[in-house]
Amino acid sequence: MKKNFNATNHSDSQSLRDFLSTLDEDQLISITASREDYLTTAISEQLEAEKRFPVVELLDPHSCQKTVFNVFANREILDNYIKNASDVEQKAKQFSWLETLAEAPVQDVVTIGEDVNVLSLPIFRHFEGDAGRYITSGIVLAKDPRSGRYNMSFHRMQLKDENRMGISLHSRGDLYDYFEHCNGEGKDLEIAVIIGCHPAYYIAGASKIPATQDDYSWAGAYMDAVPQTVTAKTVDLQVPAFAEYILEGKILSDVFEDEGPFGEYTGYSTSRSTRNVFEVSSITQRKDAIYQDLVPGYAWEHLLLSQYSKEILLLKKLQKEIPEITGLSMPKNGCHFHAYMSMKPKAAGQAKQAMLLLFGLDMYLKLIIVVPDNVDVHNEDEVLWAVATHVQANRDVFIVPDVICNRLDPSSENGVSAKMGIDATNETASQEQLITIPDEIRLQARLLLKESD
Ligand SMILES: Cc1cc2nc3c(=O)[nH]c(=O)nc-3n(C[C@H](O)[C@H](O)[C@H](O)COP(=O)(O)O)c2cc1C
Repeated sequence: MKKNFNATNHSDSQSLRDFLSTLDEDQLISITASREDYLTTAISEQLEAEKRFPVVELLDPHSCQKTVFNVFANREILDNYIKNASDVEQKAKQFSWLETLAEAPVQDVVTIGEDVNVLSLPIFRHFEGDAGRYITSGIVLAKDPRSGRYNMSFHRMQLKDENRMGISLHSRGDLYDYFEHCNGEGKDLEIAVIIGCHPAYYIAGASKIPATQDDYSWAGAYMDAVPQTVTAKTVDLQVPAFAEYILEGKILSDVFEDEGPFGEYTGYSTSRSTRNVFEVSSITQRKDAIYQDLVPGYAWEHLLLSQYSKEILLLKKLQKEIPEITGLSMPKNGCHFHAYMSMKPKAAGQAKQAMLLLFGLDMYLKLIIVVPDNVDVHNEDEVLWAVATHVQANRDVFIVPDVICNRLDPSSENGVSAKMGIDATNETASQEQLITIPDEIRLQARLLLKESD
């Protein structure tokens, strides 16, 4: 049965509301509670402990403000809703333009200049060590100052003042590059922060998109529709027409202030920051805007969002070079630093070649385990069983020291880390020795247990 969360009109198909309207009772839970710091983090942690991954809507009975979170904690929900995930790069070519609307719901309520007050938004503090309340679900939209192409990315934003936030560009991706370019010319960088929208925008924002493609075209491919936009009020940008909130403004040139610490996906708090400042010139929003929070730190929502498109696209790249590779997964407990790969090696040393290729494609990785293709890489029990029964460390393990890595790994030094590969494809016992039971009895057991429920 569907929840009563109907989108208001047909075009709302490009909204968070449309996504919510597709969820059934097991996939969306509603909680009424006053807005309180740490609450979204604690609810998501408890759900994860119970191995439940629904989207959560939190209704504050005093302000009637609705907050939605845990949107990215459930792979099955995303697989059902996100379109063209495996051929997004190709498909994006069909969506390389925008449909600009004259007016749009995201501009139902407009606040400009001195009336702007970001402190009034229902923004949460997530961890005790955090420097304050943080927007974690904001997709930063900006244009490449040279090509005019749009980029979307995530950046933690610390509330400082009515119109001022600390922002960190520490992944040193495209936004950092745009800022450096503008800063070099003594110019501020105009941005718009999208909060609450179709999950396709979030997946596009978390994806590493080739510099030749516009991030809007990837959002379009993930929605299977041309993105509908409206002109922002105070910056020269097109913003998604059906978002819940847009914060417009600029990252200031040559202004740097302390930002952080903040709880990162490694499970540790870090002060590592580029210490930039975002000055907000306008807030536009829907009349009954839903605030979206994204539980950061070592939460499945944060980790799955970052790796959702990465896993799919890396597997495609790997298979292009080595077709014998059959599966790839990045386990949550590896926080982007571990990968499990399956393959059917056609020759000695090919599993090692596959690991070297994957290390080359993703500098975050520091441990890769390769298993035979009959092992499910998404089932960690099976992967570690293969390590236990197939691996001899002196024969099957290699280590490459001092390779570039992610600096958020607290065990790394000076931006380099050792990379370890484990080849668990050497199955010396024969397939006939595997213990089995007949499929029909397995099915019978399943039916008997279902009947006894
Ligand atoms: C939930 C989430 C939070 C993130 N937080 C930050 C951040 O605070 N600072 C940062 O520089 N990158 C952060 N990232 C990483 C970038 O947004 C991400 O790497 C993005 O793909 C950048 O791509 P681009 O270089 O193509 O713009 C975050 C990613 C996700 C999914």
